[in-house]
Amino acid sequence: MKKVGILGGGQLGRMLLQAAVNYPVETFVLENDPQAPAAHLCHHFTHGDIRDFETVYQFGKGLDALTIEIEHVNTEALEKLVAEGVSIFPRVAALKIIQNKIHQKNFYKENDLPTSDFVVTNSLHDLRLQSHFLPAVHKVSNGGYDGKGVQIIQQAADIEKGFDAPSVLEKKVPIKKEIAIMIAVANNGETALYPPVEMVFDQTLNLLSHQLCPAELAEKVLWKVEAIGLTAIKKLNSPGIFAVELFVDIDDNVLVNEIAPRVHNSGHHTIEGNYSSQFDMLWRIMLNYPLGNTDCILPSALVNLIGEDGFAGIPHYDGLEEVLSIDNAFVHLYGKHQTKPGRKMGHVTILSKEKQDLLYKANKIKHLLSVRS
Ligand SMILES: Nc1ncnc2c1ncn2[C@@H]1O[C@H](COP(=O)(O)OP(=O)(O)OP(=O)(O)O)[C@@H](O)[C@H]1O
Ligand SMILES: [Mg+2]
Repeated sequence: MKKVGILGGGQLGRMLLQAAVNYPVETFVLENDPQAPAAHLCHHFTHGDIRDFETVYQFGKGLDALTIEIEHVNTEALEKLVAEGVSIFPRVAALKIIQNKIHQKNFYKENDLPTSDFVVTNSLHDLRLQSHFLPAVHKVSNGGYDGKGVQIIQQAADIEKGFDAPSVLEKKVPIKKEIAIMIAVANNGETALYPPVEMVFDQTLNLLSHQLCPAELAEKVLWKVEAIGLTAIKKLNSPGIFAVELFVDIDDNVLVNEIAPRVHNSGHHTIEGNYSSQFDMLWRIMLNYPLGNTDCILPSALVNLIGEDGFAGIPHYDGLEEVLSIDNAFVHLYGKHQTKPGRKMGHVTILSKEKQDLLYKANKIKHLLSVRS
């Protein structure tokens, strides 16, 4: 039986392990929090820091393959493991491009992939010299996650909200729609595209509010999304599963926002909504089996379950009974021991043939279900 490790033990690792049960694989998780969502679902749990060279190296030694659920892992250790025969999904070179937002933007530019114009700033001082470039979005180069390393700089007065660290300053795109497309790449280079999803954001939390699949796009826009997404992933030259986030602007231009080289929140609906989920797909890839079928079984909507403002502590899920009584609503709780404002605590996927029905139920679920302490 192959031995496969996951760096990080959050909800992505948890859902990946749920899919692992179907395959001949022995699973390992490295994670700092022994109560993390994935901790008790793996065969072997190691308590430790995914950013530490020695910890990652010792964890990976002797495994057949390793994957990540967050980009910010120790890549030097991964390089040493590759030299010793461990397969890493994604490849370390691809991971290094994505880990650093400056490298990521340069990668798009060098490969003629459409993306918003940008300049690199190394300090607040640099940023102050860019008032002619506004309105823009400032993104810290290393370590941002879930919108936390992102600041909109609308006008000169906002500049002090920027990052005093290496960052990219991107032109603010007049966004019509935010799209994500999951793409699978097998070891032999074969690819499979999932139908893209459309994301709607919560402006105050800067987090996904709900998501629809398939995205409603004019045929020409859909082609651009698929072509640009696929080209970007092919240029990364790595097996694995990838989420490409794109913007469709008000003139129907399609721009790459960012790539996640791993399972991703924008693919959670695939558990019930598609024949082969993003998690199932990654096991197929890592264990060298044929790719799965990415088609939708039915259209879906996805609502994230976020820790409510003003509550921190042991979570209580209000409204669970009512939500579970809704037809074709599938609840996923991540089993986190603590809730806090804005924390991702779970999600609900809804399946229906009718878009109106999806929207109605998504909205209903957002009002019914809350996480408090
Ligand atoms: N150039 C831009 N123009 C307009 N809006 C933008 C731009 N870049 C980012 N945004 C907005 O900010 C959000 C977060 O940006 P981005 O996806 O780059 O950050 P992130 O920290 O990686 O977030 P996450 O982990 O949630 O994907 C985007 O989904 C989009 O709504
Ligand atoms: Mg993003």
